[in-house]
Amino acid sequence: MGRVTQTTPDVRSTTIHPADPADAPWWRDAVIYQIYPRSWADSDGDGIGDLPGITARLPYLRDLGVDAVWLSPFYVSPMNDAGYDVADYRDIDPIFGSLADADALIAGAHDLGLKVLVDLVPNHSSSEHEWFRAAVASPPGSPERGRYIFREGRGVDGSQPPNNWPSVFGGAGWTRVTEADGSPGEWYLHLFDSTQPDYEWNNPEIGDEFVSILEFWCDRGVDGFRVDVANALVKEEGLPDFEGPLQAFDATDHNPEAALPPPPEERVDDEESGPRAPMWDQDGVHEIYRRWRTVLEAQPSPERILCAEAWVKPGSRLARYVRPDEMHQAFNFEFLDTHWRAGSLRAVIERSYRDNDAVGAPTTWVLSNHDVVRHASRLGLDQSLPRPNGISADRAQPDADLGLRRARAATMVMLALPGSAYVYQGEELGLPESTEMPHEFRQDPTFHRTEGKEIGRDGCRVPMPWVKDAPSHGFGPSDRTWLPQPDSYGAYAVDQQVGVEGSTLELYRSLLAARREGRLGLGSASWHELSGDEVVALVNSAADGSRRTLALANLGQAPVALPEGARVTHRSGELTPEGLVPTDVAVWAVL
Ligand code: NOJ
Ligand code: MG
Repeated sequence: MGRVTQTTPDVRSTTIHPADPADAPWWRDAVIYQIYPRSWADSDGDGIGDLPGITARLPYLRDLGVDAVWLSPFYVSPMNDAGYDVADYRDIDPIFGSLADADALIAGAHDLGLKVLVDLVPNHSSSEHEWFRAAVASPPGSPERGRYIFREGRGVDGSQPPNNWPSVFGGAGWTRVTEADGSPGEWYLHLFDSTQPDYEWNNPEIGDEFVSILEFWCDRGVDGFRVDVANALVKEEGLPDFEGPLQAFDATDHNPEAALPPPPEERVDDEESGPRAPMWDQDGVHEIYRRWRTVLEAQPSPERILCAEAWVKPGSRLARYVRPDEMHQAFNFEFLDTHWRAGSLRAVIERSYRDNDAVGAPTTWVLSNHDVVRHASRLGLDQSLPRPNGISADRAQPDADLGLRRARAATMVMLALPGSAYVYQGEELGLPESTEMPHEFRQDPTFHRTEGKEIGRDGCRVPMPWVKDAPSHGFGPSDRTWLPQPDSYGAYAVDQQVGVEGSTLELYRSLLAARREGRLGLGSASWHELSGDEVVALVNSAADGSRRTLALANLGQAPVALPEGARVTHRSGELTPEGLVPTDVAVWAVL
């Protein structure tokens, strides 16, 4: 088998990605802002963000200069996994508002020229979904049970789970029900919390239901869908046992005791590192997305998109989700997971273009979301250790200044890269993770299911600071916030940054404006000869040769000189008095 070991890319100004045509559809270079509805803006003072709160603040996003928003789930839910446990896909949870509020939000966004993506959660429902309630109330073998993955247990009296699959959140991936006669009954599969039963996607009823849900939201005017755990819907036949790391957003290799995986430029990339896990990335999922693509293309406007949330490696497997007749985008989590090392970043960037260009898809860059430690903190952690799944007061704390300095530089690299990019709420403020939240506030099921061994994701989900000297830092009209805001958050508030030269918010605004004006998302990419073991230097060129932008980040120890004649337009930090680029600073320059 032809295993290929990736080496550090050849840096002699090689083109690593060709330009897109100027009339490329919107999603190929869109910058999409992720709103986590619970934590963005609260209109009614209950301490939980809501849809009217979002609608009222949409002008902020227009002024930031993004093209679209993606809203994490706002559907009816018991909120055991912050809404990723959906009880009714066609209605809004009362804590967020009503369908009329959703309509107003979509219309308001469109009026401002912003597109709207919603979150689709097709792998599992909530255990409070009427289908799951009916399944539990119905006997084994019934059509109601056939919508989920119910099996008899193993061992004497079926008292052992049907297989050894764990839950991503910790503990077993199976829970046993009690049958109507009071006897211990079958088990159902849940790759996540026990209140998130997995659907049986071999049952055609599930496929038809999700087409109808897609159509429901298209009819309400949404421009696309972010698809939750898109790699999980189909399981290997027979549900065989599996010994291996359960890779998801909190892959087991975040364990602080685990050995650091080799940096990407040393990893064997073109093949999977072991047998594929039977719950992830089965070939059968692609048929589902081909059907959905047809559904979207049959809509009045053909520009609606699907974006895969799929923690799939290697990149060539991930690229299968964005083949021309499947989804439009797939988050590039390997980029997010790359340590602050020039060689690693260059290797990931180059491989991402190779894999996505092979199927004609844009690459979808991302540095933060609601499942990972914010990059302003992540990059301030020891870069020789794996990414942790949350940070608590008793664990190693990030260096906040270093993290922010690197985060600003990393963002400058990301926004210079052709393709699409996602920005997670608050990163435009340089917002750090909440790393000392008292455990009593933690809500992530990961924390509870692992008895605190895994800290989990609450630290990146804390409500946004808008106004320093206001209750809840302007998040809402009261001082209530569903997770506590750290004392440090006031200094990052929007009102402290807007119009302030050099603030992270103004940096994002000017980068997004320049990116839009120069159509950087559609440019070609090549390595500049300054690239090396300590420097990422990328040239983004317009197809017609009218513009060449150098994005250079210095990840080494010594300051770096820019090429002769380069005119700096943006910088993430001060240059030296001689005009050199210091450590952990990035610039954009016109060549
Ligand atoms: C991925 C989502 O981003 C995460 O927040 C959620 O817990 C899992 N999928 C399960 O739906
Ligand atoms: Mg509210």
